Amino acid sequence: MAIIIFAIDDVDSRAPSKYTDWFGRHKFFPMGYLANGGSYMMEMFDKCFDKADFIKHVTAVVDLKNKDKNVTASCTVVISHTDESILLAFRPTYGVDEQNEEILTVAETTSFPGGGIVNKFYYNALMILWNGGIKDAFLTSKNKYSNYEIWITGHSMGGALSSLMAGYLVQMGYASSSAVKLMTFGEPRNGHKDFANRFPTLVPWAYRVVHHNDYVPHSIPQELGYQHHRNEIWYNNTMANGDPYIECDEPESLKCSNSVAPDKWSILDHGGYFDKKASCLKTASPMLF
Ligand SMILES: *[C@@H]1O[C@H](CO)[C@@H](O)[C@H](O)[C@H]1NC(C)=O
Ligand SMILES: *[C@@H]1O[C@H](CO)[C@@H](O)[C@H](O)[C@H]1NC(C)=O
Repeated sequence: MAIIIFAIDDVDSRAPSKYTDWFGRHKFFPMGYLANGGSYMMEMFDKCFDKADFIKHVTAVVDLKNKDKNVTASCTVVISHTDESILLAFRPTYGVDEQNEEILTVAETTSFPGGGIVNKFYYNALMILWNGGIKDAFLTSKNKYSNYEIWITGHSMGGALSSLMAGYLVQMGYASSSAVKLMTFGEPRNGHKDFANRFPTLVPWAYRVVHHNDYVPHSIPQELGYQHHRNEIWYNNTMANGDPYIECDEPESLKCSNSVAPDKWSILDHGGYFDKKASCLKTASPMLF
């Protein structure tokens, strides 16, 4: 007989020791919308946080080729006192121009600090955001609240930028690997095998959530040398409240979303995370671990 010990009254203001559906559904996923900017961002800020400081939003042109002003990336920095965390949220791809550029430059790569090959478009975009205000916003926040965790999240392209950000902060000594909590949604591959295999030493608390037949995690092919980093959380369903998930701790596991045949990959499933009903809860997570 299993003995389950949990304290119902106890609250953990930080991320749990491993992935929980509650944290994905009511914290990281909806918090990712903070990256979108504009009045919607402030609406989400009010919905997601109780005691928090809005620190910075940066949107920048990140085109590698033609200075196309439609090719942009965004990041938002928030300090949440309730969660005792500094949040970095990254926005998905916006528009056809950006989508085309991601496809056209897919084989272009660059070296990641400390070793490993990564996608050039994503890394370049991250560096433009970092040097365009995110670095200062992050370091100011970190200096003030040095014991806070660092929560990094994003959907789609935002997931790729989140992963590179998480690795970068630890590699460059801006954060300790135990402080960084990474959770992404529908993340495309963004590093080669050498980078992906090194990733868990940089960011051990890392979850790539994949919804059912979502096409995007398969879109950047392994044939070009890319590989996903661990760990994958796969929902083989609509992600409705209470739906089960499978965790795969080895990269590119055939037990998770790689079990889906290519003819089933669906761009529709790239939306619909948490059945389109994810909502922020301002309260800290109930402690179940
Ligand atoms: C940017 O997108 C708009 C439509 O959303 C389009 O009219 C314009 O030509 C695009 N700009 C460039 C430089 O491609
Ligand atoms: C995922 O769900 C589909 C039905 O949607 C089912 O056919 C398939 O066997 C499931 N895959 C795994 C690995 O459980």
